[in-house]
Amino acid sequence: APGRESVDQIGIAGRRARDLISQILTFSRSATREAVWQRVRPMVEEAVQILRPALPPSVLLREQLCEEPLAITLSPTEVQQLVSNLATNAAQALPDARGSISIDLARTTVARPMPAHVGELRPGVYAEITVTDTGCGINANTLSRLFEPFFTTRRRQRGTGLGLHVVHGIVTAHGGAIVVDSTPGGGTVFKVFLPASSEADTTPAVLPSEPGVLGGGERVAYLDDDEVVRLMVQRVLEHQGFDVSVYAEPRQLVETLAKYPEEFQLLITDYSMPGMNGLEVAHAVRAVRSDIPIIILTGYVPDHLRLEVAALGAAEVLNKENTFEELGTRAASALQGRIGKQV
Ligand SMILES: Nc1ncnc2c1ncn2[C@@H]1O[C@H](COP(=O)(O)OP(=O)(O)OP(=O)(O)O)[C@@H](O)[C@H]1O
Ligand SMILES: [Mg+2]
Repeated sequence: APGRESVDQIGIAGRRARDLISQILTFSRSATREAVWQRVRPMVEEAVQILRPALPPSVLLREQLCEEPLAITLSPTEVQQLVSNLATNAAQALPDARGSISIDLARTTVARPMPAHVGELRPGVYAEITVTDTGCGINANTLSRLFEPFFTTRRRQRGTGLGLHVVHGIVTAHGGAIVVDSTPGGGTVFKVFLPASSEADTTPAVLPSEPGVLGGGERVAYLDDDEVVRLMVQRVLEHQGFDVSVYAEPRQLVETLAKYPEEFQLLITDYSMPGMNGLEVAHAVRAVRSDIPIIILTGYVPDHLRLEVAALGAAEVLNKENTFEELGTRAASALQGRIGKQV
């Protein structure tokens, strides 16, 4: 179909993007998963071993891992993705690749609910994995967008901005939380809290399940000016059972719908694009299709945008941070006519 791209055609982010697609598919893969409690220390040790040769020799890598038996529900692959994404960021934050990174594992008891950047830190026992660097630190603006998919300050190094979003997905799926402490110029600490048990038990608990296949081949148009994002979202939605056509140009999509108003059953669009923003696209589409459900993805949701989108009818805004966790479910309920009811 026109507008389709194959993974092999991505020029921009190449292999990194392909790795990330498989990471995302790992965590958007649903069905009921059985929670298996496994010892955390050997998994972190293995992740650090894999990581060490990937770091420049000028980076001093330290690890301090607690000896107490402590089990978590993450798989070894998830622990590896988590540690490697955090440590890679830490290494990239070091000026001239000089400085140190510490990876620590501790048993932490939370007595009172505590604020967190991701998830909720409820009272309980946690395996706390901390990645500390002596790098450039994070400014307030970056801090507020850190876990958004595709948010990157590394345009030149071709970052895809998915590393921390993947970490966010893994931690949320296991009921954990993340706290970030950073001072511009003074280094950064990422503290990941994972619900823990003192024994690696053999009785599997059941994790909250998400529906697997959400779509039934419904025709979805996805509009985004960013090539990598288009490909990722397309892959995830197709994986969930939707028939997705992608558009890079707002005008091209609007023209298609003007010519063939019944071509799509759902429109999903990014908000900030050069030329025409997502809201303008929605208005143009409404002129030819008064009933098509519309989902607008945006990193920042000001009140006026919510109101304007609500006024469109059958439309809603979805925070980009929740793209991979929620887009499929929201698309499915939009297609069933349940949209814009709880904006
Ligand atoms: N330890 C850190 N120190 C300073 N900035 C950081 C740190 N970790 C993350 N960041 C900032 O957060 C942004 C998002 O990180 P994320 O890992 O999601 O994407 P990325 O590293 O830019 O790209 P990718 O991980 O896909 O290569 C980074 O671009 C960087 O600006
Ligand atoms: Mg990264």
